Amino acid sequence: MEFDFTTLSASQRYKLLVSTIVPRPIAWVVSLDAAGKLNAAPFSFFNAFSQDPPVVCIGIGGRHPGDVKDTGNNIRVTGEFVVNLVSFANAEQMNITAIEFGPEVDELAEAGLTPIPSVRVKPPRIAESPVSMECERLMTIELGNERALVLGKVLLMHIRDDAVIDAAKCYIDTPKLDLIGRMHGRGFYTRTRDQFEMPRIPVEDWQLRNTD
Ligand SMILES: Cc1cc2nc3c(=O)[nH]c(=O)nc-3n(C[C@H](O)[C@H](O)[C@H](O)COP(=O)(O)O)c2cc1C
Repeated sequence: MEFDFTTLSASQRYKLLVSTIVPRPIAWVVSLDAAGKLNAAPFSFFNAFSQDPPVVCIGIGGRHPGDVKDTGNNIRVTGEFVVNLVSFANAEQMNITAIEFGPEVDELAEAGLTPIPSVRVKPPRIAESPVSMECERLMTIELGNERALVLGKVLLMHIRDDAVIDAAKCYIDTPKLDLIGRMHGRGFYTRTRDQFEMPRIPVEDWQLRNTD
């Protein structure tokens, strides 16, 4: 069946995109407003896009015309944020931080989470998260309709000690992080436990295989 995106409504397009592009990692973003008030929220329009420079990107929407989400507003104003990743153990608290609170509410306090000072940026990281990335805004691409793509340059990454196999070689025990991804609809998630290994094929091996 074909779905013509040029004739669909925004909510129909949203349904098709989020029920097919899965699983999506979740950026659990901590930011501060101009007065230093804490804010946290999850975003699954998120991924890593480059290592040199090290760039992550988050798609942040608006609530309604003229009203951007607090995270988007804070990053536009301060240029700094921390992306925390979400483990299965963090899932319920992450969900609490997604409640549409007003800007006066500190979602970390509501969810009983612990902010710890960052090294390079003003917003703190979340102590309960296994991975946190301290980021500065590289650029914001305004998409219209209060939506923006925020490109962040990663300045520093924290990884929980027990998940680091060899710090010098940057070997990480990824399964131990027990990260979750967002699936379809508003409430489905997946764990990252169902893995399989498939080595890359060197071109010489491929050519040999085909001449056998
Ligand atoms: C798992 C999850 C992923 C989400 N992903 C996004 C997203 O990619 N973009 C977005 O604008 N809102 C997303 N939301 C909704 C925001 O988290 C929600 O609107 C939040 O209240 C925004 O908070 P803020 O106003 O403090 O920034 C997501 C919610 C959940 C639960």
